[in-house]
Amino acid sequence: MRTVEEDFWSLDMQQRDAVFAELRRRPALSDEPLPRPLGSPPAAPYRSVVRYDDVWMVSRRPDVFVSRYGTNIDDDPPEFEDFFGSMLNMDDPVHARLRSIVARAFSPKQIAALEGLVTTVAAEVVDAAIETVGSGDGDFVDLFAQPLPLTIIMSMLGVPAADHALLRSLTDEILGLSHPDGEDPYDTIARAGRTLYDYAQELAVERRKRPPADDVIGTLVHAEVDGERLTPQEFGAFTVLLVVAGNETTRTAIAHGMDALARFPDQRELWFGAFDAHARTAVDEIVRWATPVLYFRRTAAVDTTLGGTEIAAGERLVMWYCSANRDESVFADPHRFDVRRGLQPMQVGFGGGGPHFCLGANLARAEIRAMFDQLARRLPNLTTGPVELAGTDFVHGVRAMPCTLGQPIPY
Ligand code: HEM
Repeated sequence: MRTVEEDFWSLDMQQRDAVFAELRRRPALSDEPLPRPLGSPPAAPYRSVVRYDDVWMVSRRPDVFVSRYGTNIDDDPPEFEDFFGSMLNMDDPVHARLRSIVARAFSPKQIAALEGLVTTVAAEVVDAAIETVGSGDGDFVDLFAQPLPLTIIMSMLGVPAADHALLRSLTDEILGLSHPDGEDPYDTIARAGRTLYDYAQELAVERRKRPPADDVIGTLVHAEVDGERLTPQEFGAFTVLLVVAGNETTRTAIAHGMDALARFPDQRELWFGAFDAHARTAVDEIVRWATPVLYFRRTAAVDTTLGGTEIAAGERLVMWYCSANRDESVFADPHRFDVRRGLQPMQVGFGGGGPHFCLGANLARAEIRAMFDQLARRLPNLTTGPVELAGTDFVHGVRAMPCTLGQPIPY
């Protein structure tokens, strides 16, 4: 039988936060490891950064708290370097150079161009769900949360529809959300990472043969800064990062968002009754509530102090975004889902600010908004059952959530 401790990452977030709340009250940063997901080996030693202000500080002092030694609790094995060695695990000036190249694919002009596509795809996703199950039962993740971000990221990269399912399953394997029976979890991650990386290289070869185009992959393949282009390794690792970051996170936010609206029916009524009036705050409240990425790590580059604690150079610091987003000293009544919660101070679901702040934040916001806009208009009677969490300590993934569509409203 599983003990509660072993199953910590599958607990409801309110229950899990009781542990973080106790850590937030301590005068110093704890160095006791949190429970590991089922089947994982013990973690390398680290300190937990759990308060909002401390997450803010670590995120915004990249000279002191660096990313180059890795951003997961455990170091990546060297053989992962090719495919997971992305800008996420770099510091300036290398990071700044890469970010200035890839940021072109996320310029306001590019995102504005994508917003039309996001609206169209969200409507198609709801059409397809109604066509598949009518007013009956299905799985919310498969029907609604998963297809929108997947289709958008695939279209940004120019991936043909026939390969979407393959790329989704590689993403899930990389994040530890699924692995084939009989395969070692480590081998699964390595194989999936390598396959996705090789796939990206094929995409790039194909696109380099064509004249520069204005879409994301065209921008990346042809982008140059000071005469420098992305190397094939940089392009491959960035594509792996984009597919993983742009896919599962937004899916998770949409699924937890729907669950939050089921738990707080007054908030659903309020938002769906005046959708546009509350959309800006409601979307960020969904990201705070869901916190799809539970943590990222930094390493102290020098001796320093943080949160009343002396930190030695080389110590690992794990920023638990899920805890900072429930910090009662910053968010009044943090376990209440409130679609009118103010935008300041900013929730840290997209990071605590600083050079690595989520590049796709505005795209993710547009996707979440478009999905709930469609649900509010066309499936106002949709109901959901309990969330089944993926149970990892890195992403807050939702494996499944039953739903009943109820009578759809025709266009
Ligand atoms: C609700 C959805 C999303 C959440 C919660 C999320 C969360 C995050 C977080 C926590 C970081 C690290 C921030 C830091 O270290 O300070 C990050 C970085 C990043 N995200 Fe997102 N993300 C989301 C959607 C997306 C999307 C849709 C894309 C792209 C299509 C994307 C692309 C990236 C990239 C490229 C980085 C690395 C930035 C860098 O290292 O400079 N994300 N994201």
